[in-house]
Amino acid sequence: MKTQFLLDPNIIYLNHGSFGACPKPIFDDYQKWQRELEAEPVQFIIYNSPKYLKESKRALANFVNCAPEDFFFTPNPTFAINTIMRSLDLQPGDEILASDNEYGAMDRTWNFFCKKTGAKYVRAEVNLPIVSKKQMIADFWKGYSEKTKVIFLNQISSATALIFPAKEICERAKELGLITIVDGAHVPGHIDLDLQDIKADFYTGTLHKWMLAPKGSSFLYVKKDFQDMLDPLIVSWGYESVAPGESRFLDYQEQQGTRDISAFLTAPACVRFLEEIDWKTRAKEARQLILENYQRFCDLLGTNPICPISEEFLGQMCSIPVNTSKPAELKDMLYGKYRIEIPVMNLNGNIYIRISTHVYVSQADIDALYLALKEVISTTDLIFV
Ligand SMILES: Cc1ncc(COP(=O)(O)O)c(C=O)c1O
Repeated sequence: MKTQFLLDPNIIYLNHGSFGACPKPIFDDYQKWQRELEAEPVQFIIYNSPKYLKESKRALANFVNCAPEDFFFTPNPTFAINTIMRSLDLQPGDEILASDNEYGAMDRTWNFFCKKTGAKYVRAEVNLPIVSKKQMIADFWKGYSEKTKVIFLNQISSATALIFPAKEICERAKELGLITIVDGAHVPGHIDLDLQDIKADFYTGTLHKWMLAPKGSSFLYVKKDFQDMLDPLIVSWGYESVAPGESRFLDYQEQQGTRDISAFLTAPACVRFLEEIDWKTRAKEARQLILENYQRFCDLLGTNPICPISEEFLGQMCSIPVNTSKPAELKDMLYGKYRIEIPVMNLNGNIYIRISTHVYVSQADIDALYLALKEVISTTDLIFV
């Protein structure tokens, strides 16, 4: 499969999780849109983009099971969360409950917002190693208080690469009358996603990670009850529109000044590609690589898995704890000497090497990492076992 991607063949690419990777047919589709835009900018932007957008949204809506009129494209999840944050009428003392496994950009977004409003961002400690889903849920709710107004949760975490029980947490949150916001950046095209089933009030996901879209393609789903309260992050022609569409919500969110929406238009090409390669079977094989290799890497590094090795907690990524006081040097060595692109991440003072397996990753790639780490252990002081 690797030849279908634009990735440098000289690099062993084990970091799909950070920014994805785009196969040639999808990238060709992206450039086709860009060429059409530059051939006739006025026709494209003013006359054609609404119908192109509609078509693309239909493809994504089918894929994630929601109505096309209930979401809009955003360049990335940070944009989506900033849009929500700006519209929440939180008061001093109100609390946003999250886990302590959230993505750094999101923690920063909430910290910024809380500093401005006097609200409080509460990061509930999720104890590692995870022993059960029940424990994850219980740990999360330890952060709850009568001041909690909103819950925010990543469905698959970044540094720890864990699948969180988003559905169960959203269900409980609804019983408590809370607003639910799920960061599903890693979810679409990775594990099954059914927005009607999760029932979050807000859900953001990317196409440019596991759905293989070019960069800058993400979305924000908003439950109908919240669509009217959502201000645009960028105020433009859609506000007080002279030509209102069917939905004020979409007028506000989809008209954001002159911009290139080509990445948004690749959703049908992404879905087509995923279907053509039988992505559910390929994803299962990629998960299998994770399940078969996680313990082996922990044994090599003298550490322990951070969760039970099962599909309940692991998708196409796993984070191996590593004892190092020089994470940046370790990362640089793996790339510089061994030509392996892999992140070495710090979360709450713990360091992890995170392996991602998409369809282009083979056991041979993972073995190359294994041998590289073995050599690093025996020839340097970067890892202590
Ligand atoms: C949990 C999570 N949220 C969000 C993001 C990405 O956010 P952005 O592209 O807006 O920086 C990532 C990226 O790895 C992530 O892991």
